[in-house]
Amino acid sequence: MIIGRRPFLAGTGALAIAGAGTRYSAADPVSVLRAAPGTARLAPAEYPKTPIWGYGGATPGPILRVRQGERLTRLFVNALPQPSTVHWHGIRIDNAMDGVPDLTQAPVPPGGEFLYDFVAPDAGTYWYHPHNRTWEQMARGLYGALIVEEPHPPEVDRDEVLLIDDWRLTDDASIDESFGAMMDWSHAGRLGNWLTVNGEGDFRLAVGQLERLRLRLVNTANARVFSLAMEGLDGWIVALDGQPLASPEPIGRMTLAPAQRMDLIVDVTAGPGAEASLTFLDRDERFPIASFEVADEVRGLRLPTPDPLPENPVPVPGSLADAHRVSLRMEGGAMGGMRGAMMGGRMMDMRQLVEAGRVWSFNGRADMPDEPLVSAAAGETVRIEMVNDTAWPHAMHLHGHHFRKIASDGRLGPLRDTTLVAQNETVEIAFAADNPGDWLLHCHMLEHSAAGMMTWIRVAG
Ligand code: C2O
Ligand code: CU
Repeated sequence: MIIGRRPFLAGTGALAIAGAGTRYSAADPVSVLRAAPGTARLAPAEYPKTPIWGYGGATPGPILRVRQGERLTRLFVNALPQPSTVHWHGIRIDNAMDGVPDLTQAPVPPGGEFLYDFVAPDAGTYWYHPHNRTWEQMARGLYGALIVEEPHPPEVDRDEVLLIDDWRLTDDASIDESFGAMMDWSHAGRLGNWLTVNGEGDFRLAVGQLERLRLRLVNTANARVFSLAMEGLDGWIVALDGQPLASPEPIGRMTLAPAQRMDLIVDVTAGPGAEASLTFLDRDERFPIASFEVADEVRGLRLPTPDPLPENPVPVPGSLADAHRVSLRMEGGAMGGMRGAMMGGRMMDMRQLVEAGRVWSFNGRADMPDEPLVSAAAGETVRIEMVNDTAWPHAMHLHGHHFRKIASDGRLGPLRDTTLVAQNETVEIAFAADNPGDWLLHCHMLEHSAAGMMTWIRVAG
């Protein structure tokens, strides 16, 4: 594995600015978002550039910015050789704009277009990615950040988006095309061998001592769960999956599952000439994935603890006792003991399921059910108990809503749109089903969802 090996980049031109060259222009309300093949310098200079797929032909795609409550309009143009769609991950969006093929829209064919036009109700850190053959299209680099700005953003010296990805590259730095490998699909999903931040293997940022940074971390990997720590930087987690925490939490070891986000407010505590870093922890090893080079002192004293970010208008669930309750049992995968599952209305044994590439199941079904898991009345409080009866963790994502985990003492956790359910763990979530439409609930380990871990809920209008 070449994971985390610090590639040497010639020169000092590697000072990176998040989303360089791509700025949201408010003056142009129908900008085009074009998915197209391109190339990127993912690996060090001695390697060739990597052919990728990207929005605007780049990976990551442009950082899209919109102010809270305002409208984002993008004409999606598909210049890829496959049908695609755009899903705006974490946005409590109009169902018709959610970008799910065959559930909310027809996939956009090569050469086709689709006008995405929606209001972003919540401030925070979101992202966008395709929802068709996601396991291939995202592994090729197709994704970008969507930032919804608070009316009064917290005071920081700079605000940086850090999209963390895990690529599977071959010896000549091209993307390994082993997309459908059943070995990956039935195990942890497609894990890579090369980590990047904003598409760079050696991401660097020049900072000042005691400078205050807002860092917006996004896990854009197909399947890797990142365990992260900070060195020479200290501060607080202020939001998860775009949604503010009621009170900022001190940073320790951080877990970022696929699709999850974390907003940090940190101060550069390392001294001038020192290097601070965001570090990936892999068993006993630590690999810096983003380096912060400390220049002069920006101020003499640390700033005080930041205030919590202002709450978003997410509806509060009603009484948990009267909630609409449903259970979702996850089965399958390697070492899971699943014997068979329903597919296409028939019972299939494991051999048939492997042949069909469906090795996981939700409530005994290995394909997308015709009936929703829950049909909720408008505004109804829904509880979903997710029972992980597999030997693998799963990053469960609900579209169109944010939910809270119900702790064993009955208390509600922070708002999230993606939660990691460990092997043999049961996690129960609750939310107010107030957003009408048909919404996916799936594992964000993309190979798992393609291989059976996908269902949906219906919310009445
Ligand atoms: Cu990030 Cu179903 O999506
Ligand atoms: Cu999974």
